[in-house]
Amino acid sequence: ELGDHRHYMHKEIFEQPQAVIDTLEGRISQEHVLPSAFGYQAESIFKEVKQVQIIACGTSYHAGLVSKYWFEDIIGLPCSVEVASEYRYRNPVVQDNTLFVTISQSGETADTLAALQQIKQVANEKNVSTLTICNVPESSLTRESDLTFLTHAGPEIGVASTKAFTTQLVALSLLVTVIGKLQKRISERRETIIVKGLQKLPGLIQSALAHEEVVKEIAKNFSDKDNALFLGRGTMYPIAMEGALKLKEISYIHAEAYPAGELKHGPLALIDENIPVIAIAPHNDLLEKLKSNLQEVKARGGQMIVFEDEQSNVGSEDGLHVVKTTTNVGRITAPITFNVPLQLLAYHVALIKGTDVDQPRNLAKSVTVE
Ligand code: F6R
Repeated sequence: ELGDHRHYMHKEIFEQPQAVIDTLEGRISQEHVLPSAFGYQAESIFKEVKQVQIIACGTSYHAGLVSKYWFEDIIGLPCSVEVASEYRYRNPVVQDNTLFVTISQSGETADTLAALQQIKQVANEKNVSTLTICNVPESSLTRESDLTFLTHAGPEIGVASTKAFTTQLVALSLLVTVIGKLQKRISERRETIIVKGLQKLPGLIQSALAHEEVVKEIAKNFSDKDNALFLGRGTMYPIAMEGALKLKEISYIHAEAYPAGELKHGPLALIDENIPVIAIAPHNDLLEKLKSNLQEVKARGGQMIVFEDEQSNVGSEDGLHVVKTTTNVGRITAPITFNVPLQLLAYHVALIKGTDVDQPRNLAKSVTVE
């Protein structure tokens, strides 16, 4: 079943172009997101939504965080994202007309399920509707939600989530677009631009995967390190968080992610030649700011690996190794594409360290107890 792959995680990373195709299938036409993508009941619900509350754990939580940037930036709809284990125990204020979205690969995560069950108790009074973005049909979350969007990633066996995350982001981009369209927050032209971008995504992921050999070389610098720092701004901040999570869970290297602008508020004190710093540097409005953050790291002797796109031109120099990852600069497709080399990095570091990649110590694929 593994084919040419040594591990399920590797196989699943390489299945991502197909997982995206399968998740888009039947959900978009050439130029539009199909109204039925979230079920026929969705239309009347989405028209009334005033804000979105996303609840998830782990990698699925990171997908939610990326989408917060999209909801607020692209369609101007307020969006909050929180880990389920916090949300369920803190008596959160529930606003009227909230769309409550749970995101989960397994559909069985205990905290996420409990948060959903709790919100349902006030759903009528507050006009709250529930949607789950889930990879497993007939799971607890799909049974308990008003609306279901199934990511068609196929079975994910590796404990470290990869293709499920990518398809969750695809699902969220469709959700942003559909709500934006129904509430007239985006033009048809904009919708078509988003749809065209999504159609390019499998090819973009494929070209990012083609950088595996370069990433494998970089991985050699990590195997003797105890710590790593991931930096990003905007949507690349949650992508940095996801990169750090992948590295820590399968290679057991302590990794942290920071929004690059927070460096001087503390983590800069950590920087020396022993801590590799990984930065994600797409060509966008924040690039110049990120470049000055990189100089702050460089001035302290830090060793940096920068993933950029064809237009970023960060420029390699001493202590700063730049890898061109993608030709892409789209607001929705960029975070999805930039995540791929970070998955490969975690995988190759773990291979060198000889850990149990598909079954990391102390972790379970489906977390059905809190
Ligand atoms: C990380 C990972 C976990 C899960 C988390 C939520 O690679 O797999 O962090 O993302 O346990 O699981 P689901 O998505 O099944 O609710």
